[in-house]
Amino acid sequence: MVNVFLQKMLRPVLAHSKFDLSLARLRLRDFGALGSELSAAFSLEDSPGQPNSRLIALALSSVRRAQDVELKLLMERKAPAYAHLWPGEHYKLLNALVQETKPRLILEIGTYTGLSALAMLAALPPEGRLVTVDIIPWQQIPGSFLRPSDFESGKLQQLVCDLGRHEVAEQHSNLLRNGDFFLVDASKDGDFEYRLMEQLKLVGLKPGALVVFDDIRFWNMLKLWREITQPKLDLSSFGHWSGTGLVDWGRSSRLYQKATTENRKGFRQRTNQG
Ligand SMILES: C[S@@+](CC[C@H](N)C(=O)[O-])C[C@H]1O[C@@H](n2cnc3c(N)ncnc32)[C@H](O)[C@@H]1O
Repeated sequence: MVNVFLQKMLRPVLAHSKFDLSLARLRLRDFGALGSELSAAFSLEDSPGQPNSRLIALALSSVRRAQDVELKLLMERKAPAYAHLWPGEHYKLLNALVQETKPRLILEIGTYTGLSALAMLAALPPEGRLVTVDIIPWQQIPGSFLRPSDFESGKLQQLVCDLGRHEVAEQHSNLLRNGDFFLVDASKDGDFEYRLMEQLKLVGLKPGALVVFDDIRFWNMLKLWREITQPKLDLSSFGHWSGTGLVDWGRSSRLYQKATTENRKGFRQRTNQG
């Protein structure tokens, strides 16, 4: 009886008000850490996506490589000391992952001050390019580490748009389909990343595309990470303290096709209704 009450009545109220989360957040102060986030741990045996041998091999070689990475560009630009912290921050790992995978096209969602873009740019192969996407132009971000000269060769470009919107993702569908390496590091507001996932499934990424998700331990990201059906690996202990996840997007084409078909249907239904 009490259980039914909790499930049917109390849970929706708590979920809507987030009152329970606010209370739990108060408890985090007892740990005295500089940064803290409410998170949860889930069993892996029933996770819809499992690590595969490609991700494990890539993780091992990238972690080995990250130990020796020096982020010279970030030093030159006087980036804060935390940017060089590894493990703990993801910048050295991102650089190492790019060195290991040699992507021709990196798509980064979430430019902010440019730290991750610069960390990856320094590792790009000669023919590679990096397109970084944000809803705010980099010139309007106070304290940006980017400079106009970074964009002169065309290796680095910024797109100002919201790829979580269907018409925007459609407009940039060729770019999305050509991406070899994605870094998803945007708002984590419990909405954008979910909309982005839907668009990535609709557009369809290249087989073998690698998608790196930042902050997968954030409360707002738990469901998104849990529900990914493609092969995936949580690499948080060697990345960002708030969570770093790798997804081998193109390898589970059957599951991916199913998700795509379901999403298309869902999208059509929503479009017809709205
Ligand atoms: C955590 S910061 C990115 C940090 C950066 N990747 C780094 O590691 O240096 C998040 C960025 O996502 C941007 N953002 C928020 N919503 C977005 C959206 N819908 N599309 C693209 N970027 C978005 C914010 O403006 C902000 O600059």
